[in-house]
Amino acid sequence: MQLPDEAIEFDYSGVLLPHAEAWTPLAELQSKHYLRPERVEAVKQQLMSVRQQVASERTMVSPPSKMLPLDSAFIDLPGKLMEQYRQKGKSSELGQIIQAAEKLKGEVDRVVVLGIGGSYLGAKALFDSLCHTYHNELPAKMRLNKPRIYFEGNNVDNDALQDLLDLLENLCVEPTMRQERWGAVVISKSGGTIETATAYRVVRQELIRYYGHSPEELRKRLVPITGPSGKLRELSRADGFKDEEILKIPDGVGGRFSVFSAVGLLPAAVVGIDVPALLLGASTMTQRFLSEPFDRNPVLQYAAINHLMATELGKSTRVLAVWSKKLEALGLWYDQLLAESLGKQGQGPTPFTVVQTRDLHSRGQQHQEGARDKLINNLVVKSTKHAPIPIGMSDRNEDDLNQFSRKTMPDVLNAAFRGTNQAYAESARPTTDLTLPTLSEHSMGQLMQMLMLATVVEGRLMDVNPYGQPGVEAYKKNMTAILKAESAKGQP
Ligand code: PA5
Repeated sequence: MQLPDEAIEFDYSGVLLPHAEAWTPLAELQSKHYLRPERVEAVKQQLMSVRQQVASERTMVSPPSKMLPLDSAFIDLPGKLMEQYRQKGKSSELGQIIQAAEKLKGEVDRVVVLGIGGSYLGAKALFDSLCHTYHNELPAKMRLNKPRIYFEGNNVDNDALQDLLDLLENLCVEPTMRQERWGAVVISKSGGTIETATAYRVVRQELIRYYGHSPEELRKRLVPITGPSGKLRELSRADGFKDEEILKIPDGVGGRFSVFSAVGLLPAAVVGIDVPALLLGASTMTQRFLSEPFDRNPVLQYAAINHLMATELGKSTRVLAVWSKKLEALGLWYDQLLAESLGKQGQGPTPFTVVQTRDLHSRGQQHQEGARDKLINNLVVKSTKHAPIPIGMSDRNEDDLNQFSRKTMPDVLNAAFRGTNQAYAESARPTTDLTLPTLSEHSMGQLMQMLMLATVVEGRLMDVNPYGQPGVEAYKKNMTAILKAESAKGQP
């Protein structure tokens, strides 16, 4: 397959055991903490059959009950959405998402997105990585009139919610002016998640208070996104939404695998992210996964290396070290993807995200000298979006930086990256490098699809169902029981 210029790359040479000429303390450590290349060779065959299995899961009509839930529809979703869009334009699913976004953009200058877990983290990752860092603070002209965006309903935090309501109440006082109008997108696949539902109840009341008690006014500024049935769908129908106005989360697409459905695409389109480019990147990654041999297949490589490091060398803490502030939310999205997919049956790596170089000043010590239970996956962006900022010459040189005057911010970051990897290598701390050519829709599409596919492959290698999250139900059941018992007793 012809790879696009913007293809992402995975380099795992930093986990392979180097050939040692003689015994040294470092060679001794490396032999314990690095992977023998033969081990990678040995699992290649197994990976080919896992890929075959994952590929065949896409078309299973009635899977055996032990495989349920089987939410594999995310794999082909980006390609299908694009194909339908080409054929049917506005009336396709993607066409409807884009139209709903356009309508909301035309109506309001601020959008509150309500959702939690998989119904929030993907959209936040896209917004943070692809939009201006200070998008919400920019004047409307610089934002090209794209609405400001706020994420709520992702917690039960009284004061944070009140702060948002205060902001809206103080800045939006004249509903006849677009720049003082706000709207909401409410996202819940099940339609019954209490964090989102309670926030929505409050936000819906505020919308009614601001625009008046008219279902038409509400529908102009609200987009519900939910599954085929459930309380949110019922409430939306009761508010007069036609079924086609309630954007759907397709069957067979699980929450944390839903970023390339309306869940991630609608908020992305609202803030002006190029949604077709995102989907093109994602579907390219699916093709690459399905057709490329191991040596050109970042999904299989990433899954295999991370799996072997965890199961054979005890590297059960998986650090995603993102070398861009704009990728922190992507890291949190990945934390959820990995934790909810593989943290089952007493197994599963523990994910966490660090932002470099910021966290070299907080976690760096532990990663350099702490417990040897970690694999550090670096996520690096090769080219900056803006022209490199030079350090420059200064009339005062007390900071001693004139010696680096011709260096730029990216040069400093690159030196930090290379210096950190070198320091880890010198004390036998394994690392891999995942490189994005640039932060663009196309590369983010590839990256997110790659990480979702790799998580499924790793689940199958571990013999753990990557779909579903039965453990999350335990707290929900207890919380509802406590609320019910207290309400029955008449407690406020
Ligand atoms: O991955 C998942 O399925 C979960 O994290 C859900 O996205 C999360 O619990 C929110 O669920 P819902 O969209 O039903 O409100």
